[in-house]
Amino acid sequence: MRKKIVAGNWKMNKTLEEAKALLSEVVNMVKDEVTGDVTVVLCPPALYLTTSRQYITAGGRVALGAQNCHEKASGAYTGEISAPMLQSIGVEYVILGHSERRQYFGETNAQLADKVNSALENGLTPIFCCGESRELRENGDYIGFVKDQLTDSLFHLSAETFAKVVIAYEPIWAIGTGLTASSAQAQDMHFEIRRHIAGQYGDAIAQDITILYGGSANEKNAAELFAQPDVDGGLIGGASLKSREFTNVVKAVN
Ligand code: PGA
Repeated sequence: MRKKIVAGNWKMNKTLEEAKALLSEVVNMVKDEVTGDVTVVLCPPALYLTTSRQYITAGGRVALGAQNCHEKASGAYTGEISAPMLQSIGVEYVILGHSERRQYFGETNAQLADKVNSALENGLTPIFCCGESRELRENGDYIGFVKDQLTDSLFHLSAETFAKVVIAYEPIWAIGTGLTASSAQAQDMHFEIRRHIAGQYGDAIAQDITILYGGSANEKNAAELFAQPDVDGGLIGGASLKSREFTNVVKAVN
């Protein structure tokens, strides 16, 4: 059974008080209003993860995610946070390979393979991001580019381990720009991603993998995006910063 997920990536936003207010609003709205079979993953800034834990009931519909982790378990890496640390405070998911990390912090496919390994070894579910630039979408082999991101960072995993990964397709040209991919563009790429996975791991695993769409998804376009057969939920940036709008996005999963 393919799991449906809506994850909120808060990025570098909110003071502590604002974060607490958003957490308690979202947790309550989700509890009161969401009936469908969907898991909600909240990814606040790392600094607030411990506090956030207190708002989230273990085993419930809402889970906690980090926005990144280091590839090593511990050591002299000033300013970094490791997968065992996240695991030790009850974090269940970690976003890896977000395009902003690739662009501003130079993360490579090879480094992301190591991060994915560390996350999985420590019981975290990676939400692995892939996606092409506008230049590639307009004049390049953007499908090949996304396939290579998956091959290089994930396809060393055994089938059993790969099956634990969540994928997020996030076209860079759609992130924070208000330019959402059309539901057909999202569906086409998700289909290609699933076919690529099937080529490596077989149909059964490909059919079970959760593939999220990210990039200017909001309460207005979410239902149409999520209705596509290969779109299993969303990774939501801007629209996750407002409790009412984010809850409406979660409710768009059917
Ligand atoms: P956006 O961000 O929804 O603000 O476009 C999505 C993301 O970067 O995960």
